Amino acid sequence: MATQHRYVMPLIIALAGQKGGVGKSTLAISIAAEWHRRGVRVLLVDADDEQRTAVTWAEVAAEHGLDAPRCVPMGDNIRTELLRVIGAEQYDVVIVDTPGRVGTRTTYALGVSHVALLPCGPSGPEIWAMAGTLEQAADVAAVTGLEVAILITRRQPGTVLGRRVRVVLDDDTEVTVLDTELDQRIAYAEAITGGYGPTTYDSTSDAAREVRRLITELEARFEVQSMTVSAMGRRVARRLGLTNGRKR
Ligand SMILES: Nc1ncnc2c1ncn2[C@@H]1O[C@H](COP(=O)(O)OP(=O)(O)OP(=O)(O)O)[C@@H](O)[C@H]1O
Ligand SMILES: [Mg+2]
Repeated sequence: MATQHRYVMPLIIALAGQKGGVGKSTLAISIAAEWHRRGVRVLLVDADDEQRTAVTWAEVAAEHGLDAPRCVPMGDNIRTELLRVIGAEQYDVVIVDTPGRVGTRTTYALGVSHVALLPCGPSGPEIWAMAGTLEQAADVAAVTGLEVAILITRRQPGTVLGRRVRVVLDDDTEVTVLDTELDQRIAYAEAITGGYGPTTYDSTSDAAREVRRLITELEARFEVQSMTVSAMGRRVARRLGLTNGRKR
């Protein structure tokens, strides 16, 4: 059952994949920033201590005085560290960015997650690398019930590979391929370089639209409506000045 844990702990989503540079960190930051903007209590965990992309992004955001989700680095002790943090502070969703290589760190990160989101670009090497990633995720899923989904990203419209990648993934794997696809867009790199997410950088951009569509699909597939409703409730209460029980 996908939802049993949702009421007692946050939904934990890991971005994973053994191939470097497919867009894990970009996605982790993009969805964390959008959920944060919506008032969802988001924790972004950077489990890639070589690159520290998410941590650096959060530092850039802080330097520019931008509102960003809390981001913390975690290592091989991610299980105990994460339990400590979500035991001390309440979060609705935790997004874990993992390193782009085969290793125990990713297994540990998948081991604490409810959902593994595996970005895949439209090229042979990325699709070939998916086999190893899926194997690693399946090993964890057999023990924990981890849900696994592939997300097509950095698609180049008007190209044969862009059109065929979904067919190939559908044929070659038994794992869900999300309906949402992200295209190759400079807006992703621009937003993140400036300490924003695509939706907070330019909410009218195509990249922002893709991220919002992805969030809608994630909320529907992984049944996180209860989380967003509670976030909406808190936002309304805050706006009405009722958060501490009396009118201010
Ligand atoms: N949809 C996209 N459109 C355009 N550029 C993108 C997109 N997604 C990612 N990129 C760019 O691709 C590069 C690699 O992305 P990113 O760092 O997110 O990958 P990664 O999977 O986290 O890499 P690593 O495995 O090294 O951690 C970055 O320069 C990023 O700006
Ligand atoms: Mg990365």
